[in-house]
Amino acid sequence: MLGVRDREGAVRVLRNACRHQNMPVAGQPAGNCETFRCRFHGWTYDLQGKFVSAPPPVAPADTSPGANDLAVLPMRQMAGLVFFAIEGASSGFFPPGPGQPYSGTIVTDMACNWKVCMEHLLGSQDASEPEFAWFWPLLVMRRSGPVVLVEQVVPHTFLRTKLFTHVFGGAVEAQKFSAATIKETCETEQKERANDTSARGSALVAQFHQQLGEAYAGSS
Ligand code: FES
Repeated sequence: MLGVRDREGAVRVLRNACRHQNMPVAGQPAGNCETFRCRFHGWTYDLQGKFVSAPPPVAPADTSPGANDLAVLPMRQMAGLVFFAIEGASSGFFPPGPGQPYSGTIVTDMACNWKVCMEHLLGSQDASEPEFAWFWPLLVMRRSGPVVLVEQVVPHTFLRTKLFTHVFGGAVEAQKFSAATIKETCETEQKERANDTSARGSALVAQFHQQLGEAYAGSS
């Protein structure tokens, strides 16, 4: 996916897949550019994802408007965060805004599988708790007094996960201990899991595994 801010300041999320042969049109994690030029055969798109040109030997057969544009994904911006849906979003897909000003983000590297981290975040929570919300699959929002934390889990490798703790309405520094505790707990849990001694619990964790199973079954 490509998060792009165009010259007018509008933000879009584009699918990073060239309309010629589905290769990535951007290979850098971040940067600035005037256009996206696919390095494979030279199809070029503007910052809104609109097809601009292609070398004559590989020019598209269908030249009707929009036929060759990059896909634009449904998205919503809230308090500096960009949420997007890979597939069609229902009206309830996007989380509500945290309602507090953005303070900063703590990035925590953890030596555990992302599912262990999700189990930990979901394990001690009650789904009916108004101060807690889970947005399948990888986002948890919780309130602690005036502070709202948006916990975003990003799988990196099988045993490496990043946790982004976005803090709203309070000092980032004050949340570092909590993030470090999550890291310690998840890494311990991962080791115990390897020895097959871990315990699982909570209806929310069960729901997580059920949805995970359905997602895996749907992708096979
Ligand atoms: S795959 Fe992008 S131009 Fe061919």
